[in-house]
Amino acid sequence: MATESTYNYKVVRQFAIMTVVWGVVGMLVGVIIAAQLIWPDLTYGIPWLSYGRLRPLHTNAVIFAFGGCALFASSYYVVQRTSHARLFSDGLAAFTFWGWQAVIVLAAVTLPLGITTAKEYAELEWPIDILIALVWVAYAIVFFGTLAKRKVEHIYVANWFFGAFILTIAVLHIVNSAEVPVTFWKSYSAYAGAQDAMVQWWYGHNAVGFFLTAGFLGMMYYFVPKQAGRPVYSYRLSVVHFWALIFTYMWAGPHHLHYTALPDWAQSLGMIFSLILLAPSWGGMINGIMTLSGAWHKLRTDPILKFLIVSLSFYGMSTFEGPMMSIKTVNALSHYTDWTIGHVHSGALGWVGLVTMGSMYYLIPRLFGRTEMYSTRLINVHFWVSTIGIVLYIAAMWIAGVMQGLMWRAVGDDGTLTYSFVESVKATYPFYAIRLLGGLLYLSGMLIMFYNMVKTIAGNRAVDAAIPAPAAAAHA
Ligand code: HEM
Ligand code: HEM
Repeated sequence: MATESTYNYKVVRQFAIMTVVWGVVGMLVGVIIAAQLIWPDLTYGIPWLSYGRLRPLHTNAVIFAFGGCALFASSYYVVQRTSHARLFSDGLAAFTFWGWQAVIVLAAVTLPLGITTAKEYAELEWPIDILIALVWVAYAIVFFGTLAKRKVEHIYVANWFFGAFILTIAVLHIVNSAEVPVTFWKSYSAYAGAQDAMVQWWYGHNAVGFFLTAGFLGMMYYFVPKQAGRPVYSYRLSVVHFWALIFTYMWAGPHHLHYTALPDWAQSLGMIFSLILLAPSWGGMINGIMTLSGAWHKLRTDPILKFLIVSLSFYGMSTFEGPMMSIKTVNALSHYTDWTIGHVHSGALGWVGLVTMGSMYYLIPRLFGRTEMYSTRLINVHFWVSTIGIVLYIAAMWIAGVMQGLMWRAVGDDGTLTYSFVESVKATYPFYAIRLLGGLLYLSGMLIMFYNMVKTIAGNRAVDAAIPAPAAAAHA
């Protein structure tokens, strides 16, 4: 029953379940487009199943549907538990759930129909953009309203990360989506030329920095200490990590526009800030991993902890690789190649995917009055299947990417290109097959999780935990 003496778990349950559902859908579309790159005629030339339309469907589904639902679920859970307060408004929280699902369904309909602004990660047309803005403002009111009514003086660091993610995404979305509608389903960007590109990649890179990173760091700062049963390794480091990360990310966007019409100084600025970004990123990774000091043995037996800690290793890997790729001479090789796709998925599958799965495995049983998931063995199977899948995916893409870059730049003694483009495509086929296998493994892991979740929920009653009395001081 909804009362001020219990937490609002209903909305957390709804978002947690949809995280797993959209994870399956988004990854299935990923597998289909990976297969299309091997068999271009796979979908018989049907326009709305073509690669160009399914690709943005994949990115929107995994980032905003899978990742987004995970962020809503975990931030709503964490802000209540660490504030000892029920969500600010049950009605607004319900609006964010149904509004966000409506955005996802509208994306799933319009993108295959070819309705798009053609801005990467901001493809949705203006009426949907307005709905996103409304949901996001409601989200901010619920989150910050809950913080405002907290019974605990301190604001736990996970909430700082969630808060920065919510505020920044609001600003990014509203500024980058400024557009002039010409019909109900067609608009043009308010910006033109190099300015448009700059605004788009200021948005795009900070979508990575805040949607795919800061929000998930919030998750990490709550669920890693919880699952390890240890306090955060260094609280001071977490605060330094927070301010350094959010300050630095903002300036790194131009590394997406090396060797373009963007002024050269802006490109160099983007590169320098990307190199600096290595330090706060690794500060966060070290803080997360070292939280396990004194409890390393738990890694042997606890598959949820394996998900969380391995996710941090991939976070460290992709945030080492990113700064390297932002160096202009390295980018001259990597840009346009599958190396970028390898980098993206070491962050997306390794970091975002695994930290989400670990957090959901912690969360789901608690939302349904159980101490653990239906099958710990299946969590273990999921862990290994997905880890092997990631390794196959990213190793294949790295090799393919470096090979493509080298083939495209090879010139003979007379200055002509050694290879035609199609030769590089042909040479890439085996790696596309390995990527498809990796993707299939990762998707199977998600299906195992879906089964485990259904079995965990079946036969159990949804439970809303009681808020501790004011005297109980520690974070719950
Ligand atoms: C079963 C798992 C997955 C498979 C098989 C898969 C496959 C793919 C494929 C084939 C592409 C297009 C690559 C290209 O254009 O050359 C792609 C792009 C992308 N995927 Fe995935 N994906 C998976 C999971 C994910 C997840 C979980 C995320 C995020 C959380 C993600 C984020 C992205 C992004 C951001 C891009 C665009 C990259 C770019 O434009 O550089 N993917 N994926
Ligand atoms: C220190 C942190 C990072 C830096 C400096 C960085 C840097 C870069 C660079 C230089 C590119 C290639 C741009 C290009 O040639 O077009 C790139 C692409 C990308 N990165 Fe990262 N990266 C970092 C972390 C991450 C993480 C953790 C994720 C995911 C969770 C991620 C997701 C992406 C995506 C999605 C793209 C492709 C964008 C596109 O072209 O569609 N990055 N990053």
